[in-house]
Amino acid sequence: MSKINIAVLVSGGGTNLQSIIDHIEAGNINGKIKVIISSKQDAYALKRAEKHGIEGMYIGKENFPNLKERNSRILETLEEKEIDLIILAGYMRILDENMVGKYKNRIINIHPSLIPSFCGKGFYGKKVHEAVLKYGVKLTGATVHFVDKGTDTGPVILQKSVEVKDHDTVEDIAKRVLGIEHEILPLAVKLFCEGKLKVVGRRVIVEK
Ligand code: GRF
Repeated sequence: MSKINIAVLVSGGGTNLQSIIDHIEAGNINGKIKVIISSKQDAYALKRAEKHGIEGMYIGKENFPNLKERNSRILETLEEKEIDLIILAGYMRILDENMVGKYKNRIINIHPSLIPSFCGKGFYGKKVHEAVLKYGVKLTGATVHFVDKGTDTGPVILQKSVEVKDHDTVEDIAKRVLGIEHEILPLAVKLFCEGKLKVVGRRVIVEK
C-alpha cells in the first residue's frame, strides 16, 4: 500500500504534531508529512518541522492579508504536494468552505472535549476547560473527528475520556486531556492511512 501524503495545519506549540511525527518515525503510520502549514509565523510547531527535516510554511495574515488569497495559497500548496489527508493539530483558523468540500472525509481535527459537549463557536484553547470546570462535569476528554462545514460538527472518529478531579485547575485538566490527545490523534491517523475508516452517515466505522 503506498504511503498517504499528509499536510498538518498548526498555529501553536505543536505537541500533537510531534506525536504524529514520532509515530511516523517509529514506523507506526503508513504516511509521510509533506508539509506543515502554520497560521502563525512564530509557532514552535515550525521549529519542530525544521528539526525533523519537514517543509514548514507560514501562510498567515502578514504575508497574505487578503483572506481569499490566503485560502488560495493554502489550497494550491495542498494540490502541489498531492495531499491525501489534512490534519488540523491546534489550527486556530476556520477552514475555507471550498477546501472542506474538496477534502470531504479527508480532514481530521482534534478537539479537547467530548463532542458534542463544550465545542462549537467560542470553544477553543483554555476556554474549553474553563467551561468544563464551570459546569462541574466529572468526565471530559478529547475527540478526533472529520471536518465538515460546521464547527466541530463532523463525524466522530475516536474519543477518550478523562476524570475531572475535585480540586482540578484549568491547567490540570488541559494537561490530562493533552495526554490523551497524543494517543487518539496518531491512532486515528494510523487507521486512516491503513484505509480502515469508513464513514456511514454520521458514523465512522473502524474496520478490523
Ligand atoms: C490542543 O489542545 C488541541 O486539542 C487544540 O489545540 C491544542 C493544540 O496543542 N485544538 P498543540 O499545539 O498540539 O500542543
